Amino acid sequence: MKGMILAGGLGTRLRPMTLVTNKHLLPVYHQPMVYYPIQCLVNAGITEVMIVTGEENAGDFIKLLRNGKDLGLTRIEYAFQVGEGGIADALKLGKHFVGDDKVCVILGDNIIEHNINEAVADFRNQPDGAKILLKEVHDPHRFGVVAFDGSGEITEIIEKPKDPPSNMAVTGLYMYDSDVFSICETLKPSARGELEITDVNNEYLRRGNLTWAQLEGWWTDAGTIESLHRATNLVAETGANKVNGKMPVLS
Ligand code: G1P
Repeated sequence: MKGMILAGGLGTRLRPMTLVTNKHLLPVYHQPMVYYPIQCLVNAGITEVMIVTGEENAGDFIKLLRNGKDLGLTRIEYAFQVGEGGIADALKLGKHFVGDDKVCVILGDNIIEHNINEAVADFRNQPDGAKILLKEVHDPHRFGVVAFDGSGEITEIIEKPKDPPSNMAVTGLYMYDSDVFSICETLKPSARGELEITDVNNEYLRRGNLTWAQLEGWWTDAGTIESLHRATNLVAETGANKVNGKMPVLS
C-alpha cells in the first residue's frame, strides 16, 4: 500500500504565521507538523509516500524531508497542487504514483495519539473499496459527519452539517483502492468551490464498498490557532503516534 500526505493549501486560518511558511511546516510541540502523518504511515508499514504540497513554500518540504530516509521512508515523491481545488483534487495527483496499488491518505494537519496499524492491516485484507476512520467529537458541524441507520450501518456522510445526524466525525485518514482516481474525475465542485473527499466516500458507500473503524485515543486537526494550540498541548502531555504506548524516536 502507498501513502499520500496532503499538505497544500494556504493556511489562511493560521495567518500571520502562514504568510511566510506552509502550515504543515509549523511546529507542533517538538516537530514540524508534517512529521506526524509520516510517522503514522511508517508505523503502519507504509514507507512509499507522496507529499502533495502547493503554492506556498513548496521547496521547503524538500529541504526538511530530503529523501525521507531519516523518517523511515524508502521512497518519497513530491507533487505540486496548483490553486485550492480541495482534498479530492490533491488526491488526483497520486494516480501514477499509486498505480494499481491501494493508498492510505492522510491530511497533513491530522494528528493522532495512537496508530492505525490494525485498520491498515484490515484494509490490506479487504479485496477492494474504501475504509474511513471515525472519531466521536463534541463539535461535529466542523467536519464530515456520518449518519447511521437503526442497525448501525452508515447511510450517508454529510460535509459540515448545520444539524449533525451524529457525533461521529470522518477523520482525515482514508484508505482507497485505485478506483478512487476515476471517482475523483467524476466529481463536481461543491458550494465552497472544492472537490470534496466526502463525495468520494459517498460514492464508495453507494457502491456498498465502504468500511469503517473507530480511531483509538485522541485525534485533532491543527489548522486553526485553537486546534494548533490543542495539538501542541496533547503531544506535550501524552505523545503522538504511539505504538505499544511509546512514541517513535526520530532525528
Ligand atoms: C476536511 C474534510 C472533512 C473532514 C476533515 C478532517 O475538512 O472535508 O470531511 O472531517 O477534513 O480534518 P476541511 O479541513 O477541508 O475543512
